[in-house]
Amino acid sequence: MRRAATILSLVLLGAGLLAAGLHAASAPAEGWTEEERAIIRSLALNALPPQPADPSNWVADDPRAAVLGRALFFDVRLSANGQVACATCHLPERQFQDDVPLARGVGMTSRRTMPIAGMAHSPFLFWDGRKDSLWSQALGPLESPVEHGGNRTQYARIIAEHYRESYEAVFGPMPDMSHLPPRAGPVADLDAAAAWKAMAETDRYAVNRVFANIGKAIAAFERTVLPTQTRFDAYASALGSSGGAGILTEDEVAGLRLFIGKGECVNCHNGPLLTDNHFHNTGVPAAPGLPEDQGRAAGAKLVREDPFNCLGPYSDAGEGDCSELRFMAADGHELLRAFKTPSLRGAADRPPYMHAGQIATLADVVAHYNAAPAAPAGHSELRPLKLSEAERRQLMAFLATLNPKAEGQSRNGF
Ligand code: HEC
Ligand code: HEC
Repeated sequence: MRRAATILSLVLLGAGLLAAGLHAASAPAEGWTEEERAIIRSLALNALPPQPADPSNWVADDPRAAVLGRALFFDVRLSANGQVACATCHLPERQFQDDVPLARGVGMTSRRTMPIAGMAHSPFLFWDGRKDSLWSQALGPLESPVEHGGNRTQYARIIAEHYRESYEAVFGPMPDMSHLPPRAGPVADLDAAAAWKAMAETDRYAVNRVFANIGKAIAAFERTVLPTQTRFDAYASALGSSGGAGILTEDEVAGLRLFIGKGECVNCHNGPLLTDNHFHNTGVPAAPGLPEDQGRAAGAKLVREDPFNCLGPYSDAGEGDCSELRFMAADGHELLRAFKTPSLRGAADRPPYMHAGQIATLADVVAHYNAAPAAPAGHSELRPLKLSEAERRQLMAFLATLNPKAEGQSRNGF
């Protein structure tokens, strides 16, 4: 509910901005109008509300679960070849991503790794939003044949063998698994899939609970990974008092003006995480050599059918929870090739860009918005911006003010 209220107030703010006529000649050249100040303050980190509770995960904020989840996040034993952990692609020292166009685990994926700081604020996860919680998200890569590549009984056994004590302290007794096949799960591996089908329903349920709890512990850890202060945040908080003079250069301020004005970036990249958490078709070109990616049109169906969603048997949510899932838009032409708006915090420092790393540099991203090409499928929401070369440079200068400050990078004990 709090999230809905935040989104509503952003929408109202956006409407107010348009009504106020951003380019009003009455604004002093170096100054901001009241409306502009309000927008800028709404983007600052200190405007970020507390992380929304996750009623589908009863250990979401349990520190013991977070300690266990942190260990699992870095544990390469949770993979088919003993070499892949979450941290293989989500490198803590690289904003929890990996700087390559397409992520590589036990095989090659068809999407770019997403950073995870602050993602507990996001109602839907992945570029196509096919998961509706951090815990349910974590289960995806574990079973993906190109990421961790393992299976459910394998993982449950690793917990029993290496994490029994810390697991049981949080979740209660492990089920007896001595009679279960070592490798079984509804995965691409045909032998493991057949072994899973042959298991008793009650055994499958017990293993699924352990599997879900692995995700819930990892999610508790991920909730401790938070965005950090940037130079932009210092500027935005100073706007109210000293005015922010000297914190940003003239070009950076001009870029901010474009970001919230002529560039229309703030229509989608809004709020303190610079994302509206929605899905948009922005005409990003198809990635060469990959199958057609429908984005949200496919993700919306998948999240509804997912047994590990908020409404499913492994969720801890009560009646009246799960409103994001129950009221989401599940079909409509605008979902075709729509992808999740990424946070722009730190984005200038982590090329390549977009859901399959199709765009190599920040300059190319800005050129993309300037040109607003037709979408390969569906319809792009963008229109050409007609920015001069100097304006494009200013926009890039502003985006770099959203990079974490050097001293802010030793976050959360890393
Ligand atoms: C092989 C590299 C790889 C591994 C291993 C991996 N991820 Fe990812 N991660 C990705 C990619 C690629 C995406 C985007 C995939 C998509 O949209 O289909 C992603 C997306 C995510 C997201 C969504 C963020 C958002 O903004 O929606 C989270 C959270 C995440 N991963 C956490 C994890 C966790 C937890 C693990 C371990 C259980 C893990 N990842 C393992 C590559 C990886
Ligand atoms: C209509 C909504 C919308 C508008 C307007 C918009 N963006 Fe985006 N932005 C997105 C979406 C959605 C993506 C991801 C698209 C994809 O991966 O296919 C994105 C991606 C990006 C990325 C890449 C980030 C990453 O991690 O890959 C940058 C940088 C960016 N936008 C900057 C801007 C700037 C600068 C503007 C204004 C000139 C702008 N955006 C306007 C929705 C929007």
